[in-house]
Formats: sequence, structure tokens, C-alpha cells
Amino acid sequence: MKLLVINGPNLNMLGIREPGIYGRETYADLCRKIREHAEEKGVEVELFQSNHEGDLVDAIQGAFGNTDGIVINPGAYTHTSVAILDALKAVSIPAIEVHISDVDAREPFRRISYVRLACRQTISGHGTDGYLEAMDALIGEEKG
Ligand code: DQA
Repeated sequence: MKLLVINGPNLNMLGIREPGIYGRETYADLCRKIREHAEEKGVEVELFQSNHEGDLVDAIQGAFGNTDGIVINPGAYTHTSVAILDALKAVSIPAIEVHISDVDAREPFRRISYVRLACRQTISGHGTDGYLEAMDALIGEEKG
């Protein structure tokens, strides 16, 4: 089984950006944690991060035909991007939306998610453990 973990804008700044909200773990720490978890579970994982909406769309399209599940934290594009929603719908690969912070408990604009409409599930406010929970849910689904 192959999973793709996609992170959108500013998630490369983890550990530096608003640590009171996003914690002190860096993006490199997150990548390590995801890779170790994938190894433990015996699945292949690819990681992708970009600050550019079109690059995120390209990464989703590039997963077509070679990926069994997508874990996606689209960052701020969650709340604005019809293009990312459409890309997820286009490839129709099982996808789970992850947010490190509890988006429903923050500013009202963060409660809107376009991407959610193409996702099986949303995991929000579980810190970086949310990525591992999303991976487990996709792995569980595949095993049926
Ligand atoms: C985020 C929440 C978004 O509202 C924000 O724009 C982010 C990170 C999260 O992981 O909590 O960049 O997706």
C-alpha cells in the first residue's frame, strides 16, 4: 500500500510559526514521525509540501494510478481552494483531511473547508498525531 502525505502553505514553518497553536515540532520532525509510522505499519509513504496551490493540485493529480490513500493538510487553502477540492474529486483516491489545530475552535473563517467535501474524514486538533491517525484509518480501510 502506498500513501501520500501532502502539506500546504506554511507547514514547512512548523516549530517556528505560532508555537502556541502549532507546537514546537518542526516539519522535519513531522516527516520523520510519518516515515517511522509508515515503516512500523509496513506501508510505503511519500511526503510532499508546497506553498503553492497549483503545485498541490499537481501532486494530487500525480497520485492518480499509483497511490492508495492521501492524507492532506492544505493549510490556509483548506478554507479557499475549489481547485484542491476538484483535484481530490478528479483522482477519487480515498483522502483524509488533517489539521494540527482545532480549526472549529478558532476564527469563524477556519470553520469552512472546501477540501472536506472530497474527504472521508477530518481529523482536527490532535496535533501532529492526527497525521498518524489518518494513516491508520486509510490502512484500516484498505485491509477492510
Ligand atoms: C491548519 C489550520 C489552517 O487554518 C491554517 O491556515 C494552517 C494550518 C492546521 O493544521 O491547523 O496553515 O491547517
